[in-house]
Amino acid sequence: MRAFKSCVWLLSAIGAAASSSCNPTAGVESLVKRRLPQHVNSFEFVLEPTQGSGLTNDSYTVSSTKDGKVRIEGTTTSALISGLHKYLSSEANVDIWWYLGSQLDQAPKNLPKLKSPLKGSSVVPYRYHWNTVTTSYTSAFWSWEDWETQLDWMALRGVNLALAWIGVEKIFIDVFTEIGLNDAEIDSFISGPAFLAWNHFGNIQGSWGGSMPRSWVDSQFDLQLKILDRMEELGITPILPAFPGFVPRNISRVFPDISLSTSPIWSNFGTELSADIYINPFDPRFAQLQKLFISKQQELYGNVTNFWTLDQFNENQPLSGDLGYLQNVSHNTWSALKAADPEAVWVMQAWLFSSDSAFWTNDRIESFLGGIPVNSDMLLLDLFAESAPQWLRTNSFYGKPWIWCELHDYGGNMGLYGQIENVTINSMDAVRNSGSLVGFGLTMEGQEGNEIMYDLLLDQAWSPKPIDTETYFHDWVSTRYGTKNVKSLYTGWELLRPTVFNNTNLTMNAVQKSILELVPSTTGLLGRVGHHGTTITYNPAVMVEAWTELFKAGLQDIKLFTNPAYQYDLVDWTRQVLVNSFEGLYKDLVAAYNSAASSSVIKSRGAKLIALLRTLDAVLATNEHFQLTPWINEARASSPSTADFLEYNARNQITLWGPQGNIEDYASKQWAGLVGTYYVERWQQFIDYLATTKPSNYNQTAFHQKLLAWETQWGQQKSTKKTASTGSTDIRSVLDTTIKTWGSLFKL
Ligand SMILES: *[C@@H]1O[C@H](CO)[C@@H](O)[C@H](O)[C@H]1NC(C)=O
Ligand SMILES: *[C@@H]1O[C@H](CO)[C@@H](O)[C@H](O)[C@H]1NC(C)=O
Ligand SMILES: *[C@@H]1O[C@H](CO)[C@@H](O)[C@H](O)[C@H]1NC(C)=O
Ligand SMILES: *[C@@H]1O[C@H](CO)[C@@H](O)[C@H](O)[C@H]1NC(C)=O
Ligand SMILES: *[C@@H]1O[C@H](CO)[C@@H](O)[C@H](O)[C@H]1NC(C)=O
Ligand SMILES: *[C@@H]1O[C@H](CO)[C@@H](O)[C@H](O)[C@H]1NC(C)=O
Ligand SMILES: *[C@@H]1O[C@H](CO)[C@@H](O)[C@H](O)[C@H]1NC(C)=O
Ligand SMILES: *[C@@H]1O[C@H](CO)[C@@H](O)[C@H](O)[C@H]1NC(C)=O
Repeated sequence: MRAFKSCVWLLSAIGAAASSSCNPTAGVESLVKRRLPQHVNSFEFVLEPTQGSGLTNDSYTVSSTKDGKVRIEGTTTSALISGLHKYLSSEANVDIWWYLGSQLDQAPKNLPKLKSPLKGSSVVPYRYHWNTVTTSYTSAFWSWEDWETQLDWMALRGVNLALAWIGVEKIFIDVFTEIGLNDAEIDSFISGPAFLAWNHFGNIQGSWGGSMPRSWVDSQFDLQLKILDRMEELGITPILPAFPGFVPRNISRVFPDISLSTSPIWSNFGTELSADIYINPFDPRFAQLQKLFISKQQELYGNVTNFWTLDQFNENQPLSGDLGYLQNVSHNTWSALKAADPEAVWVMQAWLFSSDSAFWTNDRIESFLGGIPVNSDMLLLDLFAESAPQWLRTNSFYGKPWIWCELHDYGGNMGLYGQIENVTINSMDAVRNSGSLVGFGLTMEGQEGNEIMYDLLLDQAWSPKPIDTETYFHDWVSTRYGTKNVKSLYTGWELLRPTVFNNTNLTMNAVQKSILELVPSTTGLLGRVGHHGTTITYNPAVMVEAWTELFKAGLQDIKLFTNPAYQYDLVDWTRQVLVNSFEGLYKDLVAAYNSAASSSVIKSRGAKLIALLRTLDAVLATNEHFQLTPWINEARASSPSTADFLEYNARNQITLWGPQGNIEDYASKQWAGLVGTYYVERWQQFIDYLATTKPSNYNQTAFHQKLLAWETQWGQQKSTKKTASTGSTDIRSVLDTTIKTWGSLFKL
């Protein structure tokens, strides 16, 4: 059972009736104690709930008191924390960041006095965070410390509704065991730790390279207990998983007459590892399992929420497009959910409507959503609203409440990128034009770089007009580096704002990866769009120009080289310049090959690609946030007794993604260690192949088959001697060497 029983949650549930023995501002006070211990007495928090019922926007007022304190009044815990964040970031110039962690303790000893109050009102009741798959791409191996930073990041940025999907494996296993399935039957269904999101979606089943360790399941459940406590403290309503219907194949051994359907094969996974079976929602056993699934969580967690996430057809086409069938399925799913929790709200990703828009015609969407008779019983996440919005074509999901979400990247891919106009202008169009919009949210597949793009939407949630991005970037840069004195920092970011962060040609509409992360080939790598998009959406020269400014900033203020934000961004921007340059070298190589150049020309052009990759690896190695080792170490540490299997999961996800490269390179990363040992080797084998193969004999299939054997071995390596992460080293000296070798790329 969970420990924390605050009245923060009770307050929001039953208004003013909270008992006097509890402190409604305990959550925000703990946050201050955790992150700004020197300032526990500097703040005064006053909770002033909005009167009345129904969904409301939040608001806060921050002011200075006569006795020198900062007083924050707010309508909810989330509003109080949002007010605190506004003050700390804009007045005290400190913040908490992905990767860098909290720098709030660097707030000045004497906090700045406010001449006039800071006031904020949200333009939407909900600020949502997390994508189901982020659980696998980003947090699969997180420790409690990682979660603590994450949850504080979310709360400070105003998030008040978030997916809480950790530890659900325990619930599945307990429910399946209770109905009589045995461990072998359950193990044949549950996927490995790095692939659980797609198991819960019914896209895949079972695990490759070993089965799910129960020790890992238990450790995730322990995390979930802490996460839920902390969410409650921070005023974040959790969305817990409901039972989606997918079951081990042997369900019919325990329920011989059960009514089942089979999902289609997903993404080259074949019938063994995909084609999951599910209980048809009109079979009473669906409701029975739903009840078990939900009441078990209520017993373990308490009644912490009425929001339940449930996706049945995510990248899984329904058996039939018959309108009556679709309505029947959703209606019975809804009834089962309401029987388990009379107050339930069914949260569903609307991703299927865009990813399979050929199937999901408007009349089918209308029938499916129409199966839920009460609009407020549902909440849809328009998952990729900045690029492929569904609310417009569905007349706001036919009246069901929904959240405008920014997806931004696939698989945690790395590339500087943004759609500042869509995030600010289109989200506000929805506020004005949709009667059932209730929130803004972030649904990145993986948390990656580009943090400014995620901040932008969460700040848009408190701004009545589309944010002026020029001012926004300027202020963001001041807080990011904690200094206002270095002009080149502003110049660098201002070069990227209208270009790199302002893609308006949505043929390519998410973070791009580099061709160096794809299986080498003489064709098909450049200018790709979609899931493995490689199109560079801006003039690469602007990236070099901005890089020059960023580097110059460090020369203007040498202290920046020890500033974690500057270190991170300098590596990130240098990375982008180098990977963009890879294309030119690649084109030279392919041109030589296609014009039947000698093998020595091929080899010497190939050597340049390899040299660039090695330089990239060295630059990335200067910063622990761009390294493979932490990912592997964290995987191994997440359950030491089965460390080798966890390492295999971690390596497999970012490379082959499946036992045979089923969706190879989907979640590729530009990390030191991965570039240096994986991509370098793949390109070297390719260069060797070209040097020994006449263009008329070129056979990509044959090359790839041989490569696959090597890739498979790479994924099975065991880091049994714990390699310590090298931590962060001197970026400056590595850059000096880089510039000496590759000066022309940097226009130096
Ligand atoms: C929240 O604020 C926005 C913008 O002012 C407004 O359009 C909307 O109706 C408000 N929502 C609620 C629930 O008050
Ligand atoms: C499924 O049940 C059958 C008996 O009905 C049994 O032979 C088989 O081993 C079970 N499968 C698994 C994975 O345990
Ligand atoms: C949770 O709510 C259910 C009814 O929805 C009730 O039966 C149960 O006792 C509650 N549990 C707790 C721990 O409050
Ligand atoms: C749904 O379909 C099932 C199976 O055909 C049928 O028994 C049931 O009556 C239908 N339910 C509704 C609400 O239409
Ligand atoms: C995104 O913004 C561009 C203009 O920058 C606009 O042309 C496009 O329609 C917007 N896309 C969506 C999906 O709203
Ligand atoms: C984004 O780019 C478009 C097209 O080049 C341009 O019209 C627009 O002004 C730019 N927006 C910003 C905010 O820079
Ligand atoms: C948009 O991008 C696509 C793919 O990169 C390209 O083919 C097309 O010409 C671009 N359209 C415009 C108007 O620039
Ligand atoms: C290419 O290689 C594959 C796998 O070795 C082989 O099956 C295929 O026949 C080859 N294609 C040609 C055109 O030789």
